[in-house]
Amino acid sequence: MIADLEAAWRARRSIRAFRPDPVERTTITRMFAAAQAAPSWCNVQPWRATVTLPPATHRLAEALVAAARTGLPHAEIPFPLDYPPPYKEHRQACGVALYQAMGIGRDDKARRYDAWLRNYALFDAPHVAIVACDRRLGPYAYVDVGVWLGYVLTAAAALGLATCPMASVAAYPEPLRAHLPLADTDVVLFGLAFGYADDAAPANTCRTSRAPIEANVTFVEDLVDRRG
Ligand SMILES: Cc1cc2nc3c(=O)[nH]c(=O)nc-3n(C[C@H](O)[C@H](O)[C@H](O)COP(=O)(O)O)c2cc1C
Repeated sequence: MIADLEAAWRARRSIRAFRPDPVERTTITRMFAAAQAAPSWCNVQPWRATVTLPPATHRLAEALVAAARTGLPHAEIPFPLDYPPPYKEHRQACGVALYQAMGIGRDDKARRYDAWLRNYALFDAPHVAIVACDRRLGPYAYVDVGVWLGYVLTAAAALGLATCPMASVAAYPEPLRAHLPLADTDVVLFGLAFGYADDAAPANTCRTSRAPIEANVTFVEDLVDRRG
C-alpha cells in the first residue's frame, strides 16, 4: 500500500493548463467524499469548499481576471512579505522551473504578467473549489484544512484528475464573495482548480524538486541540555 501511495504522490504535480471537458458529478463527489476521511483537531472538520461547475467557473474566472487586472492583491490572511532562506531559494527555483517550462525569459515582463494572469483565468479549468475556514477557530484549523487538501490531491490523482492549489485567487476575495455563498465567519484560504490535464501544454511540463529529508526532519536520540 505504501508503494502505491508513494507512486501516486510522486506522479502528482500541479497542473496549469486544463482541457475544457467538465468532470462527471459522481467523480467530483467521490473525490470530496474520500477526503472527508481526513483527520482534524477534535474532529471539527473545518474545511469548507465551494465548488463551481460550468458555466459558473468561466464566469468566476472572468470576474477574477478583471479584479486582478485592476486592483491590488489583499488576501484575507496576509501573504508573506518576504521569504527568508532557504524558502526564498525554493520559491525562486519553483518560479524558474515554471517560466522555463513555458519558455518565458527572465526579463520578459509582458509574458510573465500574462502567466501570472492565467492564475485568475483558473488555468481554463472547468472547476474550482474555493476553500475557506471559520476564522473563529484560528490557525490550528488552517492546519486541518491543509491536511484535508493533501487528501483531496491524493484522491484526485487516484481518480485521474489534475489539480492546482491556488493561493493566488485568495488575493482577490471580492469577486469570490460577490458571486459565491461564502459565510462572513469564514476566511478564504485558497482555490483548487481541477479537471483533466492538457498534456500538450508547455506549463504542464514543469517539474519541481524537493530537498532531502534532512532539511525538514530532525531525529533526536539523546537529549542535550540547551539552556546554556
Ligand atoms: C496552498 C498552496 C497554494 C498554491 N498556490 C498556487 C498558486 O496560486 N498558483 C500556482 O501556480 N501554484 C500554486 N501552488 C502550487 C505550488 O506552486 C506547487 O505545489 C509547488 O511549486 C510544488 O510543485 P508541484 O505541486 O508540481 O509538486 C500552490 C500550492 C499550495 C499547496
